[in-house]
Amino acid sequence: MTESPVTPAPPAGPAAVIVLAAGAGTRMKSKTPKILHQIGGKSMIGHALAAAAALDPRELVAVVRHQRDLVADHILSLGETLGATPVIADQDEVPGTGRAVQCGLGALQTSDAGSGGTAAPSGTVVVTYGDVPLLTTELLAELVQTHEADSNAVTVLTALLEDPTGYGRILRDTDGSVAGIVEHKDATDAQRQVNEVNSGIYAFDGAVLSTALAQVTTDNAQGEMYLTDVLQIARAAGGRVAAVSTTDQWQVEGANDRVQLQALGAEMNRRTLQRHMRAGTTIQDPVTTWIDSTVTLEPDTTILPNTHLQGSTHIGEDSVIGPDTTLVDTRVGIGATVTRTQATGAVIGDRAGVGPFTYIRPGTVLGEQGKIGAFYETKNVTVGRGSKLSHLGYAGDAEIGDHTNIGCGNITANYDGVNKHRTVIGSHVRTSSNTVFIAPVTVGDGAYTGAGAVVRKDVPAGALALTVAPQRNTEGWVEDRRPGSPAAEAAAQVRLTHQPGTESDNA
Ligand code: UD1
Ligand code: CA
Repeated sequence: MTESPVTPAPPAGPAAVIVLAAGAGTRMKSKTPKILHQIGGKSMIGHALAAAAALDPRELVAVVRHQRDLVADHILSLGETLGATPVIADQDEVPGTGRAVQCGLGALQTSDAGSGGTAAPSGTVVVTYGDVPLLTTELLAELVQTHEADSNAVTVLTALLEDPTGYGRILRDTDGSVAGIVEHKDATDAQRQVNEVNSGIYAFDGAVLSTALAQVTTDNAQGEMYLTDVLQIARAAGGRVAAVSTTDQWQVEGANDRVQLQALGAEMNRRTLQRHMRAGTTIQDPVTTWIDSTVTLEPDTTILPNTHLQGSTHIGEDSVIGPDTTLVDTRVGIGATVTRTQATGAVIGDRAGVGPFTYIRPGTVLGEQGKIGAFYETKNVTVGRGSKLSHLGYAGDAEIGDHTNIGCGNITANYDGVNKHRTVIGSHVRTSSNTVFIAPVTVGDGAYTGAGAVVRKDVPAGALALTVAPQRNTEGWVEDRRPGSPAAEAAAQVRLTHQPGTESDNA
């Protein structure tokens, strides 16, 4: 027999992932919808959708209702980072997770109208929650893999909890197979002893799911359409119902209030730090170090205590960040040092130094081996290679060339009260202490300024700009004008001591 060459099909993700996000989340006591609360630099729904999208489903659906427009806008804004545009499904006034999934199915593009007009996608439909932020794509993929390999009708993700109060309990037959789920409020005392709980995360056969949901009622303690009823219905119809159990409870934990939000945030941070340490970053004090899940670090970076790295921040190899530093959306090159600094939207070059006590605002670009030192504030400024702004000043809306030294206490006066103007300073410039640049103004290459200069006019290359009047000393002014003051007495003392012929002069 001749074998025809077969190109293996790319691994197909599930038909759909439906993320439930319609609940009110009243226990957050917040005007912000629960799933928009953030941990690790992203909203909870952002984490949930990212894990779902990475499964590469044919369709990604989010079911919304509470604060619908706010939630939908946020979800749609995530499209770019997800690499997939979620479809928004609206849940109606019928309550319950079962109804939520039914509404989700109704929004699928690829579902066929099955018997009874119910939408029935062919293939696997995964259901997850928008408020379970630590769930990983790996665990979801394992669930789908088991579900499909065993040709199950339903596969539920379960966990063993010491305190299962409030959760739906997994009911198993004597042979260990999953018989169904009973909600805490509907459970008998004996059933409440079970500590294997329903995570609320499942893989379903799409056709089984839609057929079973058509039979789910609201006849229960909460008057809701329970998604969990699908398990018994599917089993009664002869389908295989199974469980994948995880020992990693955090992955199935939701945040209902701010105490749980904090706990999940701390655990996410712990996992993020551990991932970076395993990949070659030294983190001296994980307890006071907070790194968003979105941050990237190269190997051989060192993070010192009380450092917060947020957003799209990236740290290059051999750089040392901290202590007491917050970097937001900031790119740090190789071998740089950033100490006790607050920076947002900045680029810090290779082997550059920033800090201590430095405030770096958006648009700051510091060149290779450049320095922005103590008590400096910068904004929208480009500093060339090897240039230094070492002490006490403000540089905004400015461009500084290479190897220029800006003296202590220099200020770019960029604001005339109405408009902002630019200061352009060339390369190899030396400015003296307390120079003020009244923008718009340009200082040529190799120019100098004198101490206290107020630079209102352009300075040509190589020129020295002096604006302070020559010094004039009026001898004896203090004793004349401030007689009897401590200053006058001190001055008199010096005058007498230095008078020729006095005793002390001969000592
Ligand atoms: C549900 C499960 C329970 C499981 C628990 C895990 C049911 C009937 N019960 O319980 O077995 O142990 O999750 O956390 O499914 N949602 C909607 N629309 C609704 C109701 C809920 O979208 O009408 C969403 C919520 O936003 C939330 C998720 O579904 O993301 C779970 O809702 P929640 O009320 O917390 O579920 P439980 O009743 O606690
Ligand atoms: Ca409920």
